[in-house]
Amino acid sequence: MKWRFESVKKYLQPKGSRALMVFGCQLALLFVIAFVVYASGGTQNARPHLAYLPIILAAFSFGIPGGLVSGMVAGLVLGPWMPMDVELAIYQQQSSWLFRLFFFMTIGGVAGLLFEVLGNTIEQLVEAEASMLRALSTTVSLRNKDTGNHSERVAYNALLVGKAMGLALADLQGLYWAAILHDLGKIATPEEILVKPGKLTPEEYSVIKQHPQIGADLLRSISEDFEPVIQGVLAHHERWDGTGYPYGQQGEEIHIFGRILAVVDVFEALTSKRPYRGPLLPEDAVNYICENRGSHFDPGTVDIFMDLYNQGKILVHGRPPDIEVAPPVSAKRVILSGKRYIFTD
Ligand SMILES: [Fe+2]
Repeated sequence: MKWRFESVKKYLQPKGSRALMVFGCQLALLFVIAFVVYASGGTQNARPHLAYLPIILAAFSFGIPGGLVSGMVAGLVLGPWMPMDVELAIYQQQSSWLFRLFFFMTIGGVAGLLFEVLGNTIEQLVEAEASMLRALSTTVSLRNKDTGNHSERVAYNALLVGKAMGLALADLQGLYWAAILHDLGKIATPEEILVKPGKLTPEEYSVIKQHPQIGADLLRSISEDFEPVIQGVLAHHERWDGTGYPYGQQGEEIHIFGRILAVVDVFEALTSKRPYRGPLLPEDAVNYICENRGSHFDPGTVDIFMDLYNQGKILVHGRPPDIEVAPPVSAKRVILSGKRYIFTD
């Protein structure tokens, strides 16, 4: 299983036969506009301005070359053969249509340049957000040396469950980062509580219980785009029967990321060494999860998790394969940046 970058530019900035098809449609639109101009009496009215639409579309799809070619074609189809006044059969002066052709090409070229610059800038922003989230997750890992790779294993298993549930790509991205950062709020938990070998006092437990909210607040202060991640971080200690924290939500009231994380996080925690106990065998951990199906855990999520476990897909120890997942940025930014991540087996 791996994540890899795939360019959505193959749809928006297409190549091969798809490029021909998209460019053909844009050309067809130009000819439709030329017909509209002719049918409405010639270039003396404002209809030639309709040509900006296919020119801008071509600049968006094919960058500078698309804008230039589309501008040239638009200038020609509205050029020497297009009367200024159809009824009186008066044709345009050469200088008029040449000027329009030059202007269309300039608009197309500049629009193509701007789309390229904008796409690259947004792509850099998306990558900067991914680096920032990575840095936050590293902070959590460094703080909690005993649980090295804990978040990565939780994220890997959460992705397996999410994918088996049929979650959409954008949801899988949010789920991944929620899993990586689910314990972010523990950076505010005093170390003596985090590594305490014995049972926690009620006061200490109430401090621990603040970590979902602290993590969510931290993420919310960075970007509104992280809302899906925030929901997962907030809900990872909720329980199906309503006895969890911080809100005591129950059943399907609990965000789906929280329901998935509850299962994979507890499985991971049980099979890992902790300051106060050794690791449990995977069979004992899954027994615990099955025993708490419908009380602590969402029954549907447990069934999917058990299916994956029985197929040997759930990762128990070690470091999962390197996975690169983009942060859950808005669809608008994904389109303009031209890149997204896809999930492959
Ligand atoms: Fe937690």
